[in-house]
Amino acid sequence: MTNSPATVTDSTMSTIPTTMTTAEALDAAFSGRSCELVHSDGRHRPLATDRWTGAASPSDHALFVDRCRGTTLDLGCGPGRLSGALQDRGVDVLGVDISSEAVRLTKARGAPALCRDAFTDLPGTGSWTHVLLADGNVGLGGRPEHLLRRVAKLLAPRGTALVELASAGAVSIHADVHLRVGDRFSGSFDWATVGVEAIDDVAGAADLVVTDLVSMAGRHVATLQHRTRARTTR
Ligand SMILES: C[S@@+](CC[C@H](N)C(=O)[O-])C[C@H]1O[C@@H](n2cnc3c(N)ncnc32)[C@H](O)[C@@H]1O
Repeated sequence: MTNSPATVTDSTMSTIPTTMTTAEALDAAFSGRSCELVHSDGRHRPLATDRWTGAASPSDHALFVDRCRGTTLDLGCGPGRLSGALQDRGVDVLGVDISSEAVRLTKARGAPALCRDAFTDLPGTGSWTHVLLADGNVGLGGRPEHLLRRVAKLLAPRGTALVELASAGAVSIHADVHLRVGDRFSGSFDWATVGVEAIDDVAGAADLVVTDLVSMAGRHVATLQHRTRARTTR
C-alpha cells in the first residue's frame, strides 16, 4: 500500500484532506476503531477487522495451517490468526505487515513478526517453503502479477505459495482507494481481486504454475509453484 497525502472525494463529492497514512489507519482499525474501505467512486464497506483479530477458523486450518510443513512467510499477516496458529503447531513462521499494531498483536500470539512492506527487503529470499497470501492479500499493491513475481523470488525452488482467491471473476483493479476512520481519511492505495478463473494467467506471468485448487466454506485457495519444478495434480 502506498500513501499519497492529498485529498479524497467522498460520496457527497466534497474534497477532504487526507490526514493519516494507510498504516496509521490500519493501526486504528486493529486497535478496535471502526474503519471503512472507500472506493474512488464513493462506494464504501467496513473492513473485516473482527475476522482477522479472531482465532483461526476451521477453514483457516484446513486451507492454510494444516498444509504448511516448513518455513512459512505470512505476507500481510494482520493480527496473526494464521501466524499464531502455525506457531502453535511448531511451524517456523514469520509474519510481515505494514501495521505496527498488527505486528504487536501477532507477537502477542507468540509468533515472530516484522513491521515491513511486503515489497521491501525481507529475510530468507529464495528459501521459504511456503508463502501465504490469505484473505484477499493477492491484491496487495494492486498489481497481482507484480506481487506474484515477488513471491516467486521469496520461495525456495520447491516451495509453494498458498493464495486465496475470489470465487468468481477475472482480475479487478481498485485504484485510489482510501481507509476512513471516523472523519479521517488515509492516503490512497491500489488494491486488486483475483478470481479463480484468472489465477492460471496471473501465476503464469510470474513464471509460477497452479498445481492445486482447494475450496472450503466458500473460500478458494490455489497452490502455486515455480513452473520448472511443478508436478501438477489438477
Ligand atoms: C485483508 S488483511 C488480511 C490479514 C491476514 N492475512 C488474515 O487473513 O487474517 C490485509 C493485511 O495486509 C496488510 N498490508 C497491506 N498492505 C501491505 C503491504 N504492502 N505489505 C505488508 N502488509 C500489508 C494490512 O495491514 C492487513 O493487516
